[in-house]
Amino acid sequence: MSQDTLRVAVVGAGRWAQRAHIPGWQRDPRVEVVALVDTDEAALAQAGERFGVSRLYTDYRDVLADDTIDVVDVATANTAHFEISEAALLAGKHVLCEKPVHHDYTQTQRLADLARGKGLKTKLGFTFRYAPAVQYARHLMESGFVGTPYIFNGYEQNSQWIDPQTPMRQVNPKADPAVLATSSIEGYGAPIIDIMHEWVGAELTSVVGTMRNFVPERVVAATGAMQRLNIDDGDMWVCEFANNVIGSIQSSYVTVGNFPGIEARIFGSEGAIIVRLVAEEGICQTIRTATKDQVEFVEREIPQEFFPEGGDSREDWDFLFYSALCADFATEILSGGAQNQGDFAQGALVQETINAFEASHRTRAWVDFPLQTAVAAPAEASVDGSSNGASNGVVTAGAAS
Ligand SMILES: NC(=O)c1ccc[n+]([C@@H]2O[C@H](COP(=O)([O-])OP(=O)(O)OC[C@H]3O[C@@H](n4cnc5c(N)ncnc54)[C@H](O)[C@@H]3O)[C@@H](O)[C@H]2O)c1
Repeated sequence: MSQDTLRVAVVGAGRWAQRAHIPGWQRDPRVEVVALVDTDEAALAQAGERFGVSRLYTDYRDVLADDTIDVVDVATANTAHFEISEAALLAGKHVLCEKPVHHDYTQTQRLADLARGKGLKTKLGFTFRYAPAVQYARHLMESGFVGTPYIFNGYEQNSQWIDPQTPMRQVNPKADPAVLATSSIEGYGAPIIDIMHEWVGAELTSVVGTMRNFVPERVVAATGAMQRLNIDDGDMWVCEFANNVIGSIQSSYVTVGNFPGIEARIFGSEGAIIVRLVAEEGICQTIRTATKDQVEFVEREIPQEFFPEGGDSREDWDFLFYSALCADFATEILSGGAQNQGDFAQGALVQETINAFEASHRTRAWVDFPLQTAVAAPAEASVDGSSNGASNGVVTAGAAS
C-alpha cells in the first residue's frame, strides 16, 4: 500500500527541537507532527502550545505503542539518544536521531544493521549536508565538474566560546585536568567530517593530527566560578583516502567568525568548489566555483530544486538546513526506494573517524583506518557545534559521562 503522508513524534522538546526539528517537519505539507514527548512537563506544555501539537507525553514508550506513528525523532539530550533510537527501531519506527547516537561507533553500527534488517530508515542530525549549497555541490561533482578529486579542506569553526565568561554546563567531574579531553572535534567536527566522507567518496585509510586547549579556564555554570577545563577547543587533522585524495579538517569554537562556520573546499583535475555556510550580510550559504581554464572563483546561484519548498538563503540557517533534512527524510521514506543518505551507518563512520583522530593525538602517530578494535572511549566533553551561543549562553561539556 503506498503512503503519501508521514506522522512524526518528536521526543525531546528543548531548544534545538524548537529551533530546528519541529518547525523543520512542519514546513513539509506531507508531514504531520502528531505528538511531542519530554520528561520536563513545563517544556512540553510550552512546546505543545507554540507548535499546535495536542498529544503530549512524558514517556517516549507511549508513542512507540501507537501504530499510526511512522517516524520517531530523537532530539533529547545525548544520554537518551541510543536507548530511545533502539526502542523505536524495535517498535518498527523510522528514526531520526541527533548526533551522536552512541560514543561507541560499533553500537551505532549495530542499530544501522538492526534498521536495515527490518526495512526501516535512519537519519543522523547531520544538519549541514542538507544545506542547499552542499547538495548542489554534490550534484556538480556527480556531473564531473571537479574531475578527479585531489584535495579536500574542511573547516568548522566560529567564536561561540572564545569568551571564558560564557558559562559551561555538565562539566565532567571525573575528568583529569592533566589530560586534554575531546570537545570541539566531537561537537563541531562531526558535520564537516560527514561532508568530507561524502565528497571524497572513497575509504579513509590513515589519519594524523593534534588538539589544543587555548582557553585554559572557563566559568562553570553550576558554580559560577572559573575552573581549569582542559578541553580541546581547537584541532587540526590530515586524512589519506584510498582514491589518493588527501584531506584536512580543522575545528574550533575559539576562532573568530560567525555561525555556523562551515567551509568545505574540493579541488580536482578539472575544477574546484568552495561552499561557505557562514551567516554573513544576511545570507547563510554561498557556493563559488572555478575551473582549470577560468581560475578566478565566481559565485553561483543555487538552483531552486535544491531548496525545500519556498526556501531561500536569507532564512535562518538552522530552519533552512533542518527543514531540508526533514524533507529529504520524508522523501526517502515515502518513496520506498533504497536511498537513505546520512544514515546511522554514516553516523558510525563519522564517530569512528573522530575516534581515530583522538587516537592519533594520544599516540602522536598516524592511525590506520578502519580501527582494529572497538574504540569505545567516551568523549570527556562535548558541545553542540551548531547551537547559537548568543541564545544559549552555555556550552554542554562532559555530556557523555
Ligand atoms: N545537529 C545540530 O546541528 C544540533 C544543534 C544543536 C543541538 N543538537 C543536539 O540536539 C540535542 C538537544 O539539544 P538541546 O540544545 O535542544 O538541549 P535541551 O536541553 O534544550 O533539550 C533537550 C530536551 O530533552 C528532554 N529530555 C531529556 N531526556 C529525555 C528523555 N529520556 N525523554 C524525553 N525527553 C527527554 C529534556 O527535558 C529537554 O527538554 C542534543 O543531542 C544536541 O547535541 C544538534
